[in-house]
Amino acid sequence: MKTALVCGAGGFIGSHLVRHLKDQGFWVRGIDLKYPAYEQTHADEFILGDLRQQAISERIIDRRFDEVYQLAADMGGAGYIFTGNHDADIMYNSAIINLNIASACLRHRVGRVFYSSSACIYPAYNQDDPDNPDCAEASAYPAAPDSEYGWEKLFSERLFLAYGRNYGMHSRIARYHNVFGPLGTWDGGKEKAPAAICRKVAAARDGGEIEIWGDGLQTRSFLYIDECIEGSIRFMRSDFEGPLNIGSDEMVSINQLVDMVCDIAGKRLHKRHIPGPTGVRGRNSDNRLIEEKIGWRPSAGLRAGLEKTYDWIERQLMRDAA
Ligand code: NAD
Ligand code: GDD
Repeated sequence: MKTALVCGAGGFIGSHLVRHLKDQGFWVRGIDLKYPAYEQTHADEFILGDLRQQAISERIIDRRFDEVYQLAADMGGAGYIFTGNHDADIMYNSAIINLNIASACLRHRVGRVFYSSSACIYPAYNQDDPDNPDCAEASAYPAAPDSEYGWEKLFSERLFLAYGRNYGMHSRIARYHNVFGPLGTWDGGKEKAPAAICRKVAAARDGGEIEIWGDGLQTRSFLYIDECIEGSIRFMRSDFEGPLNIGSDEMVSINQLVDMVCDIAGKRLHKRHIPGPTGVRGRNSDNRLIEEKIGWRPSAGLRAGLEKTYDWIERQLMRDAA
């Protein structure tokens, strides 16, 4: 039986990934600071532990796992990573996790390590035009990420690549672009725009108004969680090391995202644009390289994923209210 370790198995992407790996017949160990927030874990073994502690990393990587997925990080949406208030924690927490995991993976010669980097590594100077952002993999340098979160991701990409060059470790570096879906954080300050907007729309009365950070003309693309898992697993088992974007290339403005959610909800709402952390002006996944190297691209449109996400968040709100 094949074995996998999922670091960050209590998080959004990690909990979905565990379920998919189990469906594929893997024996799965998960580790996280916390259990999944919205459902029971599907892992064969789930360890509550802090990967900032080297001894914990050594303990959980105690064998030659076929696949290690390194998703554990101190992360959140714009309200968490762009305020600047958490920069030191984000850099320290995530960097030390990656340092510990890389060395423990080497010690046990694990088969492959998947590292979840981010589109936040791309230079701010290529994302000023909301209609024409450049997020091709090769555009990462000269580096100029607009957040410390992005700088840490870039450092850790280089860490895993260096272990490959110096010690022959096999890694796969993925740069995720805004991933959303059911079981994702939807309140509390770390939620990303799709979840935040679904929550605000679900909570608003028809004819009312909701607050949107910025002028709403900033652009993004959003990848539905099932597509993210499929792309990640395919990439992990491909011959290409990366870095590769894993994202959607259906770019929309935040105002368009709000309109789509309102349409799904059947509500007419006024958008009140307020100052807030906005991040780069435009971002879209460039999927040319991933299509060329592993023949994968997302298959469903944004609306289909948003319908499922809105439905799930509306139910969370109703459950909380009850
Ligand atoms: P998430 O916050 O839901 O999951 C991360 C998990 O890591 C959390 O459950 C957290 O408790 C755990 N963790 C943090 N510190 C830890 C520690 N010291 N020891 C053990 N566990 C710890 O985030 P996610 O959306 O599932 O993202 C997974 C990965 O993908 C992260 O590395 C993130 O930076 C990256 N990423 C995600 C997105 C996205 O849109 N979701 C985009 C780009 C990159
Ligand atoms: N979160 C949030 N909440 N964002 C809002 C809101 C709101 O109520 N209203 C408007 N926005 C705007 C933000 O200001 C930002 O311009 C845009 O929506 C997208 O915000 P997020 O979804 O929170 O984050 P992001 O796309 O800037 O960054 C995310 O994706 C990266 C990968 O592409 C984050 O999750 C990063 O951690 C991730 O690496």
